[in-house]
Order: sequence, then C-alpha cells, then structure tokens
Amino acid sequence: MRKINIFETTLRDGEQSAGVNLNFSEKLEIAYQLERLGVDIIEAGFPAASKGDFNSVQEIARKIKNSSVTGLARAVKGDIDAAWDSLKMGAEPRLHTFIATSPIHREYKLKMTKQQVIEKSVEMVKYGAARFPIVQWSAEDASRTELDYLAEIVEAVIQAGAKVINIPDTVGYAAPIEYGNIFRYLREHVPSIDKVSLSAHCHDDLGMATANSLAAIEGGATQVEGTINGIGERAGNVALEEVAMALYIRKDFYHAKTDLVLNEIKRTSDLVSRLTGMQVPANKAIIGANAYAHESGIHQDGMLKEKTTYEIISPELVGVSSNSLVLGKHSGRHAFKERLQELNFSVSDEEMNSLFVQFKELADNKKTMTDEDIVALVLEEKATDISFYDLASLQISHGTHQTATATVTLKKGDNEEIQEAATGAGSVEALYNTLERCLGCEVNLQDYRIQSIGGGMDALAQVFVKIDFDGVETSGRGLDQDVLEASAKAYLNAVNRVIIMKELEEKAVLQ
Ligand code: KIV
Ligand code: ZN
Repeated sequence: MRKINIFETTLRDGEQSAGVNLNFSEKLEIAYQLERLGVDIIEAGFPAASKGDFNSVQEIARKIKNSSVTGLARAVKGDIDAAWDSLKMGAEPRLHTFIATSPIHREYKLKMTKQQVIEKSVEMVKYGAARFPIVQWSAEDASRTELDYLAEIVEAVIQAGAKVINIPDTVGYAAPIEYGNIFRYLREHVPSIDKVSLSAHCHDDLGMATANSLAAIEGGATQVEGTINGIGERAGNVALEEVAMALYIRKDFYHAKTDLVLNEIKRTSDLVSRLTGMQVPANKAIIGANAYAHESGIHQDGMLKEKTTYEIISPELVGVSSNSLVLGKHSGRHAFKERLQELNFSVSDEEMNSLFVQFKELADNKKTMTDEDIVALVLEEKATDISFYDLASLQISHGTHQTATATVTLKKGDNEEIQEAATGAGSVEALYNTLERCLGCEVNLQDYRIQSIGGGMDALAQVFVKIDFDGVETSGRGLDQDVLEASAKAYLNAVNRVIIMKELEEKAVLQ
C-alpha cells in the first residue's frame, strides 16, 4: 500500500469560496478538527494577505502539533517572509509558494517569458529553503502548461531545494486520463523526480475533481490537496472525504491508503458546513443526508436480506451514527461531561459552566437531546467571538393580512441598553428593520438561510446571514430553538464581527 499524504486547504482555498468568511476562533476550531481527522498537512491561510490571516496562521501553527502547518506565498520575498514569521513556531513549518506556468497566465497575467518564470521560481524556492525545512512549489495552471516546459521548470525548482511539487488543475480543465498522464510524463522526463513528492490539486469546474485526483494517484502522485465538502473557489476543490473513501473502499484497485481517521469525517463535514454556512447537498457522496438512505422497495428488501446488496460503505465507518439519542432534561453535569468526552471535545471549566446552563435550558424545551444538538452547542460556544451587541429580548407580532411588528432590546457593551420597534412585510423583515434602528446605521441583507439541526418539531434552528455593514461584507450565524431568535443572533453575530475586526485594525494602526 502506498501512503498518500493529505494536504488540507479548507482554511485557504476553501475560504476563497464566495461568501465564506471565517473568524479567528472558527479557523482554530476547524484546524483542531482537521488534526483530529488526521490530515498530514493543514494549509492554514495566506499570511501575507492580511493581518487577520497572518494572526490565524500563526496561532494555528503554534497550537497544532500532529499535522504539519503551511501557508501560501506568491513568488515574492515579502510573502515568504510573512509565511516564515507566522509559521516558524510550528511543529513542522512548511512553505507553499506558487507561480503560474501556463502560456495564458505567463502572457496575460504575469507578462513574463518562460525563462523569467523559471528564474523567479528558482530564486524564491532558494529563498524559502534557506528558512523552511520543507518547501512545496506549485505550478499554477499546470494542467494547461506545455509538458516539456513543465518538466524543465520542475527539475529547476527541485535543484533549488523544493521537496514537494504540486501540479494544480487550477481551472478544473483536465480530463482524468490526461491529468494522470501529466504525472507519468514528469516521472519519466524529470531527472531528479525521485527526490520529491508529487502532489495533485484539483478544482471541480467540470465535476471531475475526484476522478482527476484518483487518476493522479494512479499516475504517481503521493499527495492529494483538497477541502472538506469540496468547498473552494468557483465550483470548489476536490472533496477530500471522497478521495479518502475511494482509496479505502477500493484498496483492491488503488493499492494506496491515507492516514485519515475515517469516522471523524462526518463531524468534520458538519463543522465546516456550519461555520462556513455552505450546506451539504442531500445527495452528496459520503456525507450527504441521503447517502445512506434506501428509499425504493426493492433496495429496502435487499438491505434487509443482506446489507452489502446496496451498501458499499457502512455509515458508521465515516462517523454517521444511527444512535443519536443520548441525554434528557434529568441528565446531570457528570453525564453531560462524559458525553462531551465521548464526543472527543475538551472544554475548559469556563466553557463547561456556560455549556451546561445552555444544555439545561435547551433540555427543558426539547423532548430529546441528540448528539447533533450537543455538537452544535459546543461548536457555537467555541467559535463565538467576544460580542459588542447582544440580544436581551425580542417580541414579534405577525399574522395573515397583518403588518408584522417587532420590539427588540439589545445590550451594548456592559451597561447600555437600546430598545427600538419597527414594522415589516414579514416577521424577519420587521425584526431586521428594528435591529437596523437599534444600530443606527444601514445594514444591507444579502443572503438569509435557515437549516434545522437534526430532526423533529423541536429541532434547533441555525440561521446564516450575509450582510453589508459599514462598508464590509460579512456573514454571521445564530443558533436557537426559535427561528426568530436564531435570526436575530445571526444578524448580530455578523455585525459584531465587523465591529471587532475594525477595532483590531485600529489597534494595529496605532501600534
Ligand atoms: O488552484 C491553484 O492553482 C491553487 C494554487 C495557489 C496552488 O490554489
Ligand atoms: Zn486551488
């Protein structure tokens, strides 16, 4: 069995998905979960892109011990310096530097000749290798690059010190056989190829990212890059859970394996989906809600006789549990704490106190508390930033042929309270008009989505909003048993993010 390294880029390429906007604590929470999932490398961000990115990469590098942490850098010294400054405290600092190699990118974007691209790459790889123990070099748009030129530049960067060579299908253009053949070609035509690990990085514009990544493995790749749930630029990156499960279920064919802890897949997928607000389609391979549901009579009959007739993956293998009824309102602190441990969460005493209060409040109103409810509460607790505005109370009246009215009281900071009322065409509009009045400035709602956590009439509601506030486009989440309270929390969560971000920026300017 060949070992395939998993290079996880949810926090970099995944965060480039339109509308995705993760804050510091959310990124850290995802990084911890990726470590639990057993990924080999976490690409934590693009340190030179912003102060926020730099800080989160630095914190992730400091905290994560069982995965190597890397950050992206253009072929620019300043980017490589920022990457080094943010990553040097990590367990195994790794640089990921890239430059485009295809004719279309050379001519229109870089305005550089073939030779200039080689020289720049060599210079930057040498600069990186003088600092980092491991340098990965990527040829952006490699799949549309002349093969002989690709082989020439790959040999040059290996000589300069690159240890991993990444061959991205940046625009999701390659067909599987073609993409696999690029790897075969490089193995045959690059003299020093045995000194490096070859990596595949596929985008899903034509829906071929999983097939392409697997074809690359057949062609000799020993590393695959991708994201959880396949989020990413445009149509996304390859969904790593699909590649890992294809290798596992078809080991007879691929003779390759990953070190992923497969039963952490579902939890990782849920976490990424909740924090990014990008819902997983019900029919999504491996982790979709319907992936293990058998609807037709013929299939159900087959399943009852012998599961393997229609089930190639057992849901438990990827962490989809059928037994999710766990605690109720009479459960005590001890049982709750034990359940958190079984779910693999480590919480501080302070988090535990707050979580237990929330658990009791929820258990009072809900007939059954599922693992999904508990996971949602913990993630919410862990991923919430300090807030500036908090919802103190709300009252909404609405009905058929009636103008909806809302009254809201907000807590601002420690002592101030703001109360306002307003109307709207529906309950959510009335609520948001009232919140806008409380804030005293315009907030543009661009997206509003609602999702239930688990099933049943008393399920928790999770609301996701995208807003434009104070010149910044951002998103927010809110969790509550009541949809309108969840809506108010999501809106305030988004507003708080902008305020906190602006405060941090101001502090950075003053320093
Ligand atoms: O898709 C791509 O080419 C990339 C590179 C920066 C590696 O994400
Ligand atoms: Zn990419």
